[in-house]
Amino acid sequence: MNTRVRDFPSTRKFDSDDRKALVEKIFDDLAELGRDGPGISRPTYGEGETQAMEYCAALAREEGLTAEYDAAANLVIELPGKDPDAPCIVCGSHLDSVPQGGNFDGAAGVVAGLLAVIRMKRANILPERTIRVMALRGEESAWFGLCYLGSSALFGELADGDLDRPHRSQRKRLRDFMTECGADMERISNGEKLLRDDEIGAYLELHIEQGPVMIARNWPVGIVTGLRGNIRHSEIRCVGEAGHAGAVPRWMRHDAVLATASLLGRLDEHWRVLQERGLDLVLTTGMLSTNQEDHAMSRIPGECTFSLETRSQSIETLETFYQLIRSETDAVERERGVKFEFDRRSLTLPALMNQTWIDHLLETCRELSLPAETLPSGAGHDAAVFANAGIPSAMIFVRNENGSHNPNEAMEIDDFLHGADVLYQAILNPPL
Ligand code: GLV
Ligand code: MN
Ligand code: MN
Repeated sequence: MNTRVRDFPSTRKFDSDDRKALVEKIFDDLAELGRDGPGISRPTYGEGETQAMEYCAALAREEGLTAEYDAAANLVIELPGKDPDAPCIVCGSHLDSVPQGGNFDGAAGVVAGLLAVIRMKRANILPERTIRVMALRGEESAWFGLCYLGSSALFGELADGDLDRPHRSQRKRLRDFMTECGADMERISNGEKLLRDDEIGAYLELHIEQGPVMIARNWPVGIVTGLRGNIRHSEIRCVGEAGHAGAVPRWMRHDAVLATASLLGRLDEHWRVLQERGLDLVLTTGMLSTNQEDHAMSRIPGECTFSLETRSQSIETLETFYQLIRSETDAVERERGVKFEFDRRSLTLPALMNQTWIDHLLETCRELSLPAETLPSGAGHDAAVFANAGIPSAMIFVRNENGSHNPNEAMEIDDFLHGADVLYQAILNPPL
C-alpha cells in the first residue's frame, strides 16, 4: 500500500453495546476524512478511498478481525466460519464517492457488513459460513468514466483499454492509480481471475436507495429484484465551426452547442415515446461544456463536449436505444454540418438478483416485523458484477432522503440499523 494516508480519527475500541452511537461515530469519522467543501469526495483508487479503507481496517483489527487487501487492492475483512473451506458469504459495497457526493452511497454497505462481523465476534458466534466484508474499489464512474473497477478486476474483466482511461482531472491513467494502491497489475492486465471459482457462495450488498420510492411508500428497508445496466460515453465531442456571433447568418452556421441541443432534444422525444410503450429507460447528460480556453459570449461555439449515459433493466432496450442514438447523431450531422466524435463506449449489463436470497431476505424482514417489500434498483451496484459472474447475489435497500450523488444525501441511522439487522440475521442463517 503505497498511497499516503493522512492521520485518521482514533478508532479506539468502542466497548459500549450502544450500536447507534458506534454507527454514528463511524459515519461521522468517515465524513470527516472525506470532507470536501459542502460534500464528500473519496476518489476511486485514490487517497480518500484508501483513507476510508484504512479507517475500517483499523476498526476491524481492534475487534480482533483480520483485514487485508486483495490483488485488486480491495479491502477484505474476514470472520472465519465453522468450515473455513466452504464457499464464503461476501457482504460488499464500495468506499469511493462521486466528487462532492454524500457520505452513505457505498459506505453504508461496508459499515453494515463491518457491524455484522463485529457483532458476531463480540458474541463469540461462529457463523455457518466464513463472512467476508469487502470494501470494493472504484464503483463510481465519475473518476475514470467506468464503473465497478475493483469488482471487475476480481473477475478478470478489466481490459487493457480500460486500464488506460485517463483520470477526470489529473494527467495520469487508471493503471497508475491502481499501481499506487498496490494492485497486482500484471495479473489484472492479463485478465486473470483473482478469485477461485468456488470461493464465494453468495454476495450481499446493503445500499441506500438513492431514489424517492421508499420514502413515498414509508418502507425503511426494501429488497432489490434487479439492477439497471447502462451504455455510456464519458466524452462525445461535437465539432462545428467557430464564428462571429453577430456576423454569420443562421444558414451558414455550424453551431456545436445547438447541434448538441438538437441531438439531446431528439433523444428525449424517443425516450418519452419508448417509456409510454412501457419500456424501462432513462437518459442523462451530466457533463456538457464548451472549451473554456476560447469560448466567449460573442463567439459561435465551434466545439462542445458532453457525456451520455442510458440505463435500462433490459439489454435489448439498451441496444435498441443505442442504435437510435447513433442514427440521430448521423441525422444531426447532416442537418447542421457538424461532426460527433465518440470516445470508447462502455456497456454494463443489467442483473437479476437471486430468488432464493430474495425470499430469504423477505422472510427475515417479516421475522423482524419490518415491511417485506421488493423494488428494482435504478442505480448500478457491484452486486451486478457478482450476479453476472454466476454468484447468487442480493441487495437490501435502506430508504434515504434527498437522493444521492449530491452533498444533501441523508439517511436516518434508525433506518440503517433496520437494514443492518436484516443483513445480520440473513447471514446468520443462510439458505446455503
Ligand atoms: C452508481 O453510483 C451509479 O451511477 O449508478
Ligand atoms: Mn454512487
Ligand atoms: Mn453506490
